[in-house]
Amino acid sequence: MNTLSRRNFLHGSALIGVSVAAAAMTPMAAVAAGPKNCRSVKEVFSMSDVDMAKNSEVVQSAYDTIVNVAKKINNSSLRSSILSILENPAPSIAEGNEAGILSSLKKEKLIASDAKAIFPRIQNKKQSPQPFWSAPGSGYGSHHAYPGGLATHTALNVVSAQALYENYRHINNLDLDWDDAVGGEILHDLHKPWVFQWEKNHACRVEQTLAGTGEHHVLSVAESIKRGIKPSLVVAQACAHEHPSSKQGEALVVGWLKAASIIAGVDPVKSGLLAADQKTLPLPRRMEGYVVHLADHDWVISSSACQWSVQALKDLAKEQYGITDETQFNAFRNYVLANLTAMRLYGILSSQGRKAFAADVARVIKL
Ligand SMILES: [Fe+2]
Ligand SMILES: [Fe+2]
Repeated sequence: MNTLSRRNFLHGSALIGVSVAAAAMTPMAAVAAGPKNCRSVKEVFSMSDVDMAKNSEVVQSAYDTIVNVAKKINNSSLRSSILSILENPAPSIAEGNEAGILSSLKKEKLIASDAKAIFPRIQNKKQSPQPFWSAPGSGYGSHHAYPGGLATHTALNVVSAQALYENYRHINNLDLDWDDAVGGEILHDLHKPWVFQWEKNHACRVEQTLAGTGEHHVLSVAESIKRGIKPSLVVAQACAHEHPSSKQGEALVVGWLKAASIIAGVDPVKSGLLAADQKTLPLPRRMEGYVVHLADHDWVISSSACQWSVQALKDLAKEQYGITDETQFNAFRNYVLANLTAMRLYGILSSQGRKAFAADVARVIKL
């Protein structure tokens, strides 16, 4: 993330604030604060990570938020494609010839020369290894690292994208494409359920790097291409991790679109994903990608909030629940965060202290 991205983010976050401040408490925030089903530690240890997300009202409400926004996509065939990805983000790109894709990526220097594979494990290529709503929001040491974290991350991003779209319209008279900006945000992390599969110890699979970024990004862009999502939305989606305002930044986005095109088996120029010289995005550069990029910046606060909440949970688990085993702690942590979220808990810890933090945890789990 370069300085320019950060500067733009700060400007964007000020704009986001206008709409969020005017909004009432969302159903997701209300259920996080509302009465809870308090389970015993023993009961939690026997739950799967998918069960934890399934039983969390907060996670299900976050997922509903995303689906309800997806239902507002204007173009009907795009709307049904996006809804079907949310329903089952199956990796149709895994049907491709992995050895051929790997050698093309190596030829373009988009993957390490000693890379052995490109696709995470998958049993049935027609079925996502887990629902969209049970995946973590990122790697286990990063943001939203708990069952349902992808839903809570994407919900905030999608609401932010809508607010940014409106704010740019009201303040700058911009007439952006709503489907590209908001649809791109909905799809931006679509392959996290595949990349971040839950492991037996309740941590998740470790992500590999692809074309200089986390593989989930390139695989998600490739999936959108493969499923026939329109190129202007795919380009906007590709900007989630970087924007094209600097040469360096644009080269990264171009590399992701090239790698994704190789994986999806398309020509990026003929498909309208890159300019004819393959050095830039299609010109003039559209602005919807900036909305996707800025609205994905939830990770800035949420990565630290998750790490600091996990550390505080580790201390609490040891002191008050007698949990020191790593797998047991992971289950404890996943259950608590799926029901309360790392953002809410760190908000309580940072403003009210450890006692209030422990009291909120005690609403959902007991000895
Ligand atoms: Fe991402
Ligand atoms: Fe994201």
